[in-house]
Amino acid sequence: MSNEHIRKAKKNKNDEFYTQFSDIQNEMNAYLEYDSSVFKNKTILLPADDPEWSNFTKFFAQNFERFGLKKLISTSYAYESKKLSDPYQLSFFERESPKFDKNKTKVNGKIFILDRINKSEQIDINALQWDYLKGDGDFRSDEVKKLRDEADIIITNPPFSLFREFVSWILESEKKFIIVGHQNAISYKEIYPLIKDNIIWLGKGFKGGAAHFINKYYDDYAIAGDHKEGMIRVSGVVWFTNIDHGRRHQPLQLMTMEDNIKYSKHKEIRNNDYKKYDNYDAIDVPFSDAIPSDYKGIMGVPITFLNKYNPEQFEIIGFFNNYNPNTASIESGQIYGDAVKINTANSLFRGPVVNGKAIYIRVLIKKKN
Ligand SMILES: C[S@@+](CC[C@H](N)C(=O)[O-])C[C@H]1O[C@@H](n2cnc3c(N)ncnc32)[C@H](O)[C@@H]1O
Repeated sequence: MSNEHIRKAKKNKNDEFYTQFSDIQNEMNAYLEYDSSVFKNKTILLPADDPEWSNFTKFFAQNFERFGLKKLISTSYAYESKKLSDPYQLSFFERESPKFDKNKTKVNGKIFILDRINKSEQIDINALQWDYLKGDGDFRSDEVKKLRDEADIIITNPPFSLFREFVSWILESEKKFIIVGHQNAISYKEIYPLIKDNIIWLGKGFKGGAAHFINKYYDDYAIAGDHKEGMIRVSGVVWFTNIDHGRRHQPLQLMTMEDNIKYSKHKEIRNNDYKKYDNYDAIDVPFSDAIPSDYKGIMGVPITFLNKYNPEQFEIIGFFNNYNPNTASIESGQIYGDAVKINTANSLFRGPVVNGKAIYIRVLIKKKN
């Protein structure tokens, strides 16, 4: 096998991470608790979800009646387009179905629909009507775009390797959405201006900021003590959404600056002081729970703060990041400090610098009155 082939197969296997039912349930409950009719009369599209594997399809099919859904559409991506090296297995939908077509089974995507018309007495996964798509089910195809345009809400864990494209695909449709992604995506230029302006935000989130995904290709990725058979643990996984939920409206419970310096559990803060950036007029707060409740100026916090961000409590001033004039353009929502020399690099640095040391991207925030 060529290196290129191995690399591709690995990339594609990295896209085959399946979300656990309990994680989906936990996240969807956050929207339902905030607004019990959030899914009522809505058409939901699950655009990367083969019911044989996808707990998203199972979850919404099982709850079709309870949520008052109008229509559930789930599409799957064709076996051949996935370019995986494992042998083809016929799905249980096709096995018994008169619709089975040997010319389509590997190369076409599939569409599964549950709606008020098709719905049988048995309201669950078995009541799904299915068919082959004309194409391979690529979310970028005109066929799936049409389904996107028909939908009210798009929900899924999209392929990691196409995350940017997937987000643009959603945003151009101006639909509501709830999707799984990595927190690194917060610093993408397509995403942070929207987070800054409260157009999109993070969902309730996975327990402990890490998700266990079902993945048949890897079973040894989990860190010691947190291993689950047949699962891969990925830290920094979040939900992105533009649907409101209760966690966003709970204020962070914080101590004053004086109390933090006396009692903080973080040794960097306790009996210490908050440091100012060398190149920007703000204090650095390396932990979200050490944000001083009485500080009126600008503070830089790690991006994990966004998991706790309440727009009534804080305003986001911008994302404080390095700017390299050779590779980047100044984007709205991004903030750069004065260009300073740092030990590790020859070129000047405009991201957050504390005592001559560059630190990772910060979100600049300010307390709301
Ligand atoms: C991260 S997995 C998640 C699957 C499912 N949504 C879940 O959470 O259980 C992403 C899925 O998208 C599929 N996929 C990859 N590229 C795609 C594309 N261009 N269009 C649609 N689906 C794609 C992959 O084969 C994979 O099954």
